[in-house]
Amino acid sequence: MTMRAVVRGVGHYLPERVVPNAEFEAKVDTSDEWIRSRTGIERRHFAAEGQTTSDLAIRAAQAALTDAGMTVDQIDAIIVATSTPDFTFPSVATMVQAGLGSTSGFAFDVQAVCAGFVFALANANGMILSGQANRVLVIGAETFSRIMDWNDRTTCVLFGDGAGALILEAQEGNGTSADRGILSSDLNSDGRHRDLLYVDGGVSTTGTAGVLKMQGNSVFKHAVVKLAETAHKALDKAGLTSQDVDWIVPHQANLRIITATAERMQVSMDHVVVTVQDHGNTSAASIPLALSVGKARGQIKQGDLVVTEAIGGGLAWGSVVLRW
Ligand code: UT7
Repeated sequence: MTMRAVVRGVGHYLPERVVPNAEFEAKVDTSDEWIRSRTGIERRHFAAEGQTTSDLAIRAAQAALTDAGMTVDQIDAIIVATSTPDFTFPSVATMVQAGLGSTSGFAFDVQAVCAGFVFALANANGMILSGQANRVLVIGAETFSRIMDWNDRTTCVLFGDGAGALILEAQEGNGTSADRGILSSDLNSDGRHRDLLYVDGGVSTTGTAGVLKMQGNSVFKHAVVKLAETAHKALDKAGLTSQDVDWIVPHQANLRIITATAERMQVSMDHVVVTVQDHGNTSAASIPLALSVGKARGQIKQGDLVVTEAIGGGLAWGSVVLRW
């Protein structure tokens, strides 16, 4: 018998305000046509004034608990992946814990920018396999609209706000790749590339939150190579190949990156969950959002082999292979 971290529930929350590409035409020198054709993005959601990352995370967590038919007192650990916390500290995860009405277990944040959810999933898996927790609530939640430079057309049109959540539970499997649950992961980072994608503020530097800066084209080139590579490495660790994949659930940054990665993996776009048109790039929230939407659309079903992959600031990138 082998212990596995099996998905028991999934949910998401998007702020009410939908911002179509056209809204940016009045603010910066851009067009709906450029944004659609270069990124695939058509609209994104922005948090209301006063609405915080923990607010979004709590709503997504509640949806996941409902989906799992669980109450929060059954959860041992809460991990939130975010780069846009409400405060420098405490963690968003402890705010979610309190917001859900829990006083048991433990909660902490993970920061690996757009790859944050993949890193958080791998962490949750490690905790379940080591016996530290039986049920882990893993959340990706972001308010990237708070760190945009609204005068920079190369970044401000790309990002959105939202949250997604997954509940993992320890269950015994047979130790084969036919088991449900997380089968493998592959995590990477290379801090030499920090200038490609960063926020120009912080506690020990400027004392301000700062705004996002990105050399989009360079990140694009790294993404296309590294995402297929990490997905292959994770599949290989699980003793699987691209042919076994039912769904790629990629980080939703750019439709051209998603398509190029699927091509490199020789997986048809019919087996890729795409939400970038509706959400934009929601950083650590994009994969759990896509998992939740993919399930709601009837795409992801129990027993399906799902490959998640993401890359972002750091650079940090990785992949998790799981059977739903
Ligand atoms: O989530 C973390 C990981 N992030 C990513 O994966 C993002 C990766 N990068 C990308 O998605 C793409 O690089 C972008 C969508 C950001 C940019 O697309 P690109 O095809 O790489 O364009 P580019 O940066 O090479 O720029 C092409 C042109 C430039 O004009 P010139 O210099 O050729 O005259 C830009 O100034 O497009 C211009 N441009 C725009 N034009 C209209 C850049 N942004 C805009 C805009 N509207 N919003």
